Amino acid sequence: MQQTDITRHRVEFADSRRLGTIEDDSIDLVVTSPPYPMIEMWDELFASLNCEIGESLHHCDGPHAFELMNRELDKTWIELARVVKEHGFVCINIGDATRKIGAHFQLYSNHSRITTKCTELGFQPLPIALWKKSTNAPNKFMGSGMLPAGAYITLEHEYLLVFRKGGKREFKLPADKRRRNRSAIFWEERNKWFSDSWDLKGVRQAMKHDNMRNRNAAYPFELPYRLINMYSVKGDTIFDPFLGTGTSTFAAIASERNSIGIEYDKNFLEIIMDGLHALGESANCRITQRLEDHIAFCKNYQANKGPLKYKNECFGFPVMTRQETMLDMKHIAKIVSGDPANIIVEYAPLTCVFPSSIDFSCEQRVQHADHEQISLQI
Ligand SMILES: C[S@@+](CC[C@H](N)C(=O)[O-])C[C@H]1O[C@@H](n2cnc3c(N)ncnc32)[C@H](O)[C@@H]1O
Repeated sequence: MQQTDITRHRVEFADSRRLGTIEDDSIDLVVTSPPYPMIEMWDELFASLNCEIGESLHHCDGPHAFELMNRELDKTWIELARVVKEHGFVCINIGDATRKIGAHFQLYSNHSRITTKCTELGFQPLPIALWKKSTNAPNKFMGSGMLPAGAYITLEHEYLLVFRKGGKREFKLPADKRRRNRSAIFWEERNKWFSDSWDLKGVRQAMKHDNMRNRNAAYPFELPYRLINMYSVKGDTIFDPFLGTGTSTFAAIASERNSIGIEYDKNFLEIIMDGLHALGESANCRITQRLEDHIAFCKNYQANKGPLKYKNECFGFPVMTRQETMLDMKHIAKIVSGDPANIIVEYAPLTCVFPSSIDFSCEQRVQHADHEQISLQI
């Protein structure tokens, strides 16, 4: 499935502990966020998966409950080792938990438990990022306040774990090389996205779905959008085994990738379909924004440091490196989403995306003997 004029997406309501509908070695990238063990909002769900979990919590045995909850997640990680292609990636957003159970307050380190399991399964752990969720939560300090020694450090980060199955992916065929070149990100995006600290706002669900607000724990669109653009190429297949509100599917669509999403709770169907209907406009805005940000970067760079050396073939604007010369982005033209199991997305080339307020006037042009002159009268 390497055609990128259309992409295909499948949303299934099933239990991701068994991925019977997904073929071996068929997934290029997993981007997901599971229910977090030992975070109270997920107790009921975990207890429904294994009644011993509820009993452990009831008997104040936090460490045992933590282990049993993670063993339920392990079943999905085991399946991922089967369905992910050799050289494919797995990105997992997870938070640790702090909790007082009975008389004991302690940290439950989900990120290290998951890292241990995935490494055991043969995935190679790669450098991770910390997601600092901007939050307005009051009273975030826990414990004895100003008096030593019974206060606890506040957890203000979640983890973005990154694993790879096998070694580095190679792009040998001309068609694969082309897909990769078209999927390049901007130099200035690379500097920000590949930093180990991400500062992204959390998400609030719309009032319309108030009954689901306490249970969705959605991540912001930007999180899977970045990961998909960092670890896959156009036409790849992205998989989220804990789909929730559909954010990973939406990010895959915006990135011209195919996707499969699996969610346990059928109540999410309406939220996902509503999200799909609104996606064209918001995703296209994000795509346009990337181009506008790039033009702003170019203007700033040219004003302070001189001309950029290379020219992008698709848009005609300058770029920092040769790797960005074939970078291409398309807008979503149409989403055919009658059947969640068969969503088809059509794309259109970008036309006239640059507002007239962005002006690369002639004074910015500098002719250098070894630099191509680039006209930016867009
Ligand atoms: C942290 S939320 C994911 C939120 C999602 N990233 C989003 O942006 O909306 C975890 C999701 O996993 C689902 N889930 C939990 N156990 C599952 C299972 N065994 N199979 C499939 N989905 C499951 C929950 O219903 C919940 O929607």
